[in-house]
Amino acid sequence: MNNVTLHTLSALKQDGKKFAVLTAYDACFAQLVSSAGTEVILVGDSLGMVLQGHDSTLPVTVDEMAYHTRCVAGGNQGAMVMSDLPFMSYATPEQAMLNAGKLMQAGAHIIKIEGGAWLAETIALLADRGVPVCAHLGLTPQAVNRLGGYRVQGRDATSARQMIDDAIVLEQQGASMLLLECVPSLLAGEISRAVDIPVIGIGAGPQTDAQVLVLHDMLGITAGRKPRFVKDFMADADSIAGAIQSYGEQVRAGTFPADEHGFE
Ligand code: KIV
Repeated sequence: MNNVTLHTLSALKQDGKKFAVLTAYDACFAQLVSSAGTEVILVGDSLGMVLQGHDSTLPVTVDEMAYHTRCVAGGNQGAMVMSDLPFMSYATPEQAMLNAGKLMQAGAHIIKIEGGAWLAETIALLADRGVPVCAHLGLTPQAVNRLGGYRVQGRDATSARQMIDDAIVLEQQGASMLLLECVPSLLAGEISRAVDIPVIGIGAGPQTDAQVLVLHDMLGITAGRKPRFVKDFMADADSIAGAIQSYGEQVRAGTFPADEHGFE
């Protein structure tokens, strides 16, 4: 696979083609995920829950994200590497610039930050300095304490309108991608059509331009309750590589996620 760039992903959106995103936190899985043709690897701060056993992403540090980004970059075979800036590492634009620099130097090609229009100045600053940004809207896990739990966002007309407006503002300020987590499928479709940049969904139904899952969830090895947007791809595969391959094929074919994986 040629190296995936922002240009690759924009062209896919323009052609109405979907692309696949999976998390990975180490070189071995980065190699498997990218070799299967997965377009984007997300070094998510979900590693705080999946690898470190915390009950939220809040304890994850910039140094830990840089370490795992470096591990992933070492195994990556041409995918775009997206890394999360963790909780409180981008509370001001200056902090964001310093910490995004650390993740880019560790091997990230794009950084992801959680929040709405308040990120406009930060995104413009990073974009001006050559750091592409994916803005994460909807259920933003770093704000779990303010949101009162891991709940679907944008269910009422006012918050839905706010999310659409935020998406448009963030694109205008220079965001290169959006990620929508746990938002009603119809709203996710509306946002995906309202912006020209690619929109990645998780728990956002079948109408976004791309789909992301936490690798351990789609391999069926995450303990505890399975969220409705997760599908266990190991159930019909005879190897981990086969499950990852099948995930990419189903996302590109538009058969995953189905309506049942989204919220009304
Ligand atoms: O940290 C992460 O893995 C994420 C995904 C759940 C989208 O942000």
